[in-house]
This record gives sequence, structure tokens and C-alpha cells, in this order.
Amino acid sequence: MLARLAAAFLSVGLATAVHPYEFSFLTTNSTPVALNISICSSSFTSSNPLILATPYGKGVSSPGPTIYDASGAVVWHAPEWGVAHDMNVQTLRGQPVLAFWIGVEIKTGWVNGTVVLLDKSYSVVGMVAARAPYRADFHEFEILRSDDDTAVLTSYNRISANLSAIGGPAEGYVLDSLVQIVTLDGSDSLRFNWSAWEHLPLNETYALPGTRGDGTLDSPLDIAHINAVDVSADGRSILMSSRHYQQLMKVDCATGEVEWRMGGMKSDFTFGPRAEFHFQHHGRWHENGKAVSVFDNGASDWEVIEPTARGIYLSVNEKTRHVELVREWLPLYQNITKMMGDVQVLLPGGDVWIDFGTNPWMMEQTWDGEMLFWATLGPNEPSEANGPIGSDRVFRTTEWVGEPAEPPAMAVVQRLNGAGTEVYVSWNGATTVTEYELHAGAGAQSMTVVARTAKAGFENAFLLSQPEPQFVLAVALGQKGKELGRTGVYDVADGLRVSDGRVARI
Ligand SMILES: *[C@@H]1O[C@H](CO)[C@@H](O)[C@H](O)[C@H]1NC(C)=O
Ligand SMILES: *[C@@H]1O[C@H](CO)[C@@H](O)[C@H](O)[C@H]1NC(C)=O
Ligand SMILES: *[C@@H]1O[C@H](CO)[C@@H](O)[C@H](O)[C@H]1NC(C)=O
Ligand SMILES: *[C@@H]1O[C@H](CO)[C@@H](O)[C@H](O)[C@H]1NC(C)=O
Ligand SMILES: *[C@@H]1O[C@H](CO)[C@@H](O)[C@H](O)[C@H]1NC(C)=O
Ligand SMILES: *[C@@H]1O[C@H](CO)[C@@H](O)[C@H](O)[C@H]1NC(C)=O
Repeated sequence: MLARLAAAFLSVGLATAVHPYEFSFLTTNSTPVALNISICSSSFTSSNPLILATPYGKGVSSPGPTIYDASGAVVWHAPEWGVAHDMNVQTLRGQPVLAFWIGVEIKTGWVNGTVVLLDKSYSVVGMVAARAPYRADFHEFEILRSDDDTAVLTSYNRISANLSAIGGPAEGYVLDSLVQIVTLDGSDSLRFNWSAWEHLPLNETYALPGTRGDGTLDSPLDIAHINAVDVSADGRSILMSSRHYQQLMKVDCATGEVEWRMGGMKSDFTFGPRAEFHFQHHGRWHENGKAVSVFDNGASDWEVIEPTARGIYLSVNEKTRHVELVREWLPLYQNITKMMGDVQVLLPGGDVWIDFGTNPWMMEQTWDGEMLFWATLGPNEPSEANGPIGSDRVFRTTEWVGEPAEPPAMAVVQRLNGAGTEVYVSWNGATTVTEYELHAGAGAQSMTVVARTAKAGFENAFLLSQPEPQFVLAVALGQKGKELGRTGVYDVADGLRVSDGRVARI
């Protein structure tokens, strides 16, 4: 990377990072949060994973979906979407799509929005919301494995309720959690519509008035807070996680009946040592229902129960109604996670990826708990727990190939005193670029290849010494030197953009 202080004539709209742990570039205004990697084994990098994050919070000046590679370089940052949550690669009608939630937060945890689906060119191929009365909540969106033309999502619904039995107003209000399965084919139909209020007894919530809401119209009590829903591979049963009942539930997809409850005040299961979880997130089925993985927060924003958050894997014996801890995975800095978090079991018995929600930490460990990767969004400090940066869920994937519809971007900077010309190039979202090639010449029609460089990080730089060319353009190359895209042609002398492309900052 070239020293930017040497650049002259640099006057047009260059964004400067607000925080020291944010990146800034010349080819784009976006200032994504840096991924601060402190442990990274070769077994992690060898699979070439991408990290899908949605950093947000007071410490994030430019929130938006963000993809990093295993070296921490930004691959894609899309602040134009604003605060996003729960980004993951899913399969829609046989094709990979990038899915994430956008919308507004009405009160802490109570949100109203839409799930955006992008294809590999980052073009919108779907916008999905709950069917009524409200729109989508960010806590869950999963395209079904049993039918990839349908998806399950969660939605909040404010309803009136008599809360005197738990010390709230008799003419009060709760936020009901709805779980809906909607079709994605445009027919707008609802396959499943489940209400926590209609299925869970009021006297068993841990969210008493004054915790998440006081039970009034303006501050409805978030009684169940369903934060994870996983439909089994055969489409028959649903694993739901209620943070505020501190329980997982198995729900029959045909009838909506709660078959069992694991955890909470009236658990149908007994627990072996260290198998209990509290205010948990991201419950997922494994081994055809014989196991579940859970992010155990160990605490909420109003109560601390365990010493630390952790990822856990539990064996589930439905006959004896007993749960045993099979594995637990602990963070480098042991501390509770007040909100959010997820556990991605890549393969039972294999590696596990965990994100610590309101703690800006993520890690990969082997099944036996060896730390393969540890990274933080921003500063790598234990004191950042439940601080100004978080990401609801962070996933890692080897399934995403990005081939943006937008062309690569270029910026040209002239150094003082004829010390040469710096040319910067980047391609937001492109995952298959291996090299950039710089073309330059005295005429727009007479450029030749003057330099070639392996892609490194988000933005690559070229330095051209005297004599300065009049015109430049950059070409992105992939495997076997195949051209994947090119910037517009730039007139170095006066900074004019000659043909289509992104704005040159000269
Ligand atoms: C949710 O969003 C929809 C669409 O923007 C809007 O019509 C509705 O009023 C919103 N509901 C709440 C409770 O904000
Ligand atoms: C879904 O169920 C809830 C609770 O019963 C109800 O209020 C809502 O109208 C239903 N939505 C649709 C689209 O049927
Ligand atoms: C609210 O429920 C309580 C019992 O928990 C009952 O005594 C009271 O009459 C109810 N109030 C209203 C307004 O329905
Ligand atoms: C809650 O109330 C139901 C009856 O409506 C009762 O069966 C259950 O035992 C109560 N739960 C607790 C924890 O007291
Ligand atoms: C990474 O964390 C360390 C320790 O807090 C900090 O000194 C450093 O600035 C961070 N780096 C980035 C890029 O955020
Ligand atoms: C957990 O993090 C908080 C900051 O959110 C810090 O004050 C506290 O000391 C940490 N606890 C432990 C056990 O490190």
C-alpha cells in the first residue's frame, strides 16, 4: 500500500474513518469496521472461508452487511442497506442467495422490517416480510430445506393482554412472537402461522413487567421473544427458542402443538451437568433430532446467571426426556453475552464457528475445543464485552461466489512535484478476482498493459512513474487470466471520467 499523505489534488469526497478501527479507502466512501484477527490457524484459512457479519452499534459509523475473508480483508460492504442483521447464504430454488434483514427498531428488540435476498451479482431477487399484521422481525429467516420455495421467519405483534397475574396492568399490552412459514414464489400464501401468546402460559415468562417493557401500549411486554426457529429437514417439526421462557420447544408443523419444552419453569426434560442454558439463542437441530446446538448467553440484559456465554452441543433423548452436554466451547475472554449470538456446527464432530452477539467476538474451534480462529470487530479487548460494537449473528461460509453487476471502481491520485501517479482499484463484492491489470497510454484507444499485480486486500494500488500517461483503466482477472470486468477509462490529466465506471476522485 502506498503512503496516502504524499497524494496531492485529493479534494473530492474522500471518506475518513470515524474510529481508528475502521478502514477507509480511496475507491469508495464506505468505512467498514476492521476485523481484528489475533488467532488464525492454517486449518482455518485452508478452506478459504468468508465471514458474513452485520456490525452495528454506537461504535459503528457505517453499519451495513459486511463480508470479510479469512485474512480480515473486506470483500463486500454495503452501507446503503443501513443496519442489517442475520446475513447468511441460503438456497432459493436451487440457487445460492445472500439473505439479510433490514428495517427499523421500534424499541429494544422490537423490530419491523424485510428480508432482502440478493443473487451473486448483488441484485435484489426477493424482499420477504411476514404476512400480517406486522412485518419481519430480524431474529430468524430460514429458507426451508424441505421446500426451498418457502421460508420461516419471525414477526412481532402488539396485542392487548391482562397482565395482572404477573404484576402488570390488567388492561395491558404484550408483544406476541409470531412464527410464520411463507411462500417465496410470489403467491403470497401463508403455510404456518403460530403465536407464542396462544401456546405459552403467561405465568411462566421470565420477562416480568419492567424487564423488556412494562406492559403498557408504548412499552409492551416482550413476553416470549422467539429468537430462533429451525424447521427439521423433513419439514415436520420445528425447534423454537424462546429467550424469555429460557426454553427450546419442539412444535409440530402440522398442528402447531408444543410437543415438548426443554428448559424454563416447567421443563419436560431433565439436564445432565452443565447442560442447562439461559436466555439462549440460535437453537439448531442435529442428527435427525437426537442433538441440538445452542448459544448459551448465560445472562440477559437484566440478569446474570452463569459466569460466561458459551456454545453448547446437547444430546437429546426424547424417550427418557433427558439432555446431556456433549461439548461446550468457551470464548477467549470469558464473559456473559447480554443479547444475540450464534453457534454454527459445521459438522457434528467437526469444527464449530461461534459469534458472541453483543460481544464483538467470533471464533472457530475444533470439536475438542482447540482455538483455530479468534477475531474481534474493532479492538481486541476483554473490556469490549457488551460494548459499542456487536453483530447479532455472524456466519462463515464457503458457499458464496460474488460476481457484482457493478464494474470495478478506480481512483487516481497525482503525487506532488511530478513524483508519479497512484492508481487504486477495488471491486466491492467480487470473490473470484486473482489479479488486476493496469492499462495506460496517451490516447483512450491506444492503451497498453503497463502493470499487473496479484489482488491483495480490498483495494490494490499501482504507482506509475514519469512520464505520466494520459488515460488509464484497470481490468480484473480471474482464474487462467480470464477477464471478469473492467473500470471505465479515466483521463488522468483533468480527472474526467471518459466512459462508464465509478467516480474518479482526483
Ligand atoms: C411496520 O412497517 C410497515 C411498512 O413500513 C408499516 O406499515 C407499519 O406501520 C410498521 N409497523 C410498526 C408497528 O411500526
Ligand atoms: C397470524 O396469527 C395471529 C395470531 O393468531 C393473528 O393475529 C394474525 O392475524 C395471523 N395472520 C394471518 C395473516 O393470518
Ligand atoms: C385480569 O386477570 C385477573 C386474574 O389474574 C382477574 O382477577 C381480573 O378480573 C382480570 N381483569 C380484567 C380487566 O380482565
Ligand atoms: C402456570 O399456570 C398453569 C395453569 O394455567 C399451571 O398448570 C402451571 O403449573 C403454572 N406454572 C407455574 C410455573 O406455576
Ligand atoms: C486490534 O486490537 C488491538 C488491541 O485492542 C488494538 O490495539 C488495534 O488497534 C486493533 N486493530 C484494529 C485494526 O482494530
Ligand atoms: C465482562 O465485561 C464487562 C464489560 O462489559 C466488564 O466490566 C467485566 O469486568 C467483564 N467480566 C469479566 C469476568 O471479565
